[in-house]
Amino acid sequence: MQDGKHIVVAIDGPAASGKSSVARELARRLGFVYVNSGAIYRAVAWNILQNEIDPRDQGAIERHVSGLQIRCDVRDHESLTLIGGVDPSDHLRDDAVNKNVSIISSLSRVREILVEKMRGYARDYDLVMEGRDIGSVVFPETRFKFYIEASPEIRSRRRAAEGQSDEIAIRDRADSSRSTSPLVIVEDAEVIDTSNLTIVQVVDEIVRRLKAKGLQIGSRP
Ligand code: DC
Repeated sequence: MQDGKHIVVAIDGPAASGKSSVARELARRLGFVYVNSGAIYRAVAWNILQNEIDPRDQGAIERHVSGLQIRCDVRDHESLTLIGGVDPSDHLRDDAVNKNVSIISSLSRVREILVEKMRGYARDYDLVMEGRDIGSVVFPETRFKFYIEASPEIRSRRRAAEGQSDEIAIRDRADSSRSTSPLVIVEDAEVIDTSNLTIVQVVDEIVRRLKAKGLQIGSRP
């Protein structure tokens, strides 16, 4: 906490840029809670698909999501989303979720509901939160914003190494061109290209820059 408020470190970037691994390790080093906002959108996308709602039917999705019981929790210092009491963690990287999460997350009503949940985390915890619009929309007031990128070739290779079929170029286009909260590099974000760096090197660099900005670094046992 600083000035009576919880601290938020925002990490934005495109798919497979390495942000999840970096954000998780950074949170561990800082002793903060790690929030994967993409996992929240994925949890909702999975629920919509499970309920056999057409991902292109905006009205049906908005009605469904407005009535959903979405609980954003913390377990082992990490975010966990329960939908109607169900933990969808094992399904968040399903092919169908990869394919449909961008279109579902482009809907403003969906974003409105989930952004409120994300902000709720900062009422209780210091956070490292990763996503697409954390520095631009969810926590625009934080002083600690990073934009993580890597070349398209490296990102495709990382996904393939994870054994996933994820059309990241298509998702990138959708996530960057949508009208609501597109992926952008905000002026006050520090940009780090991870193409030729290890996770530890990226985290070291972020910690160095956070210290330079005056953040006091503790650590979690
Ligand atoms: O970070 P990820 O690739 O797991 O995110 C999955 C999708 O969720 C991504 O394609 C777009 C959406 N998303 C978003 O719109 N806003 C965020 N803050 C995080 C993710």
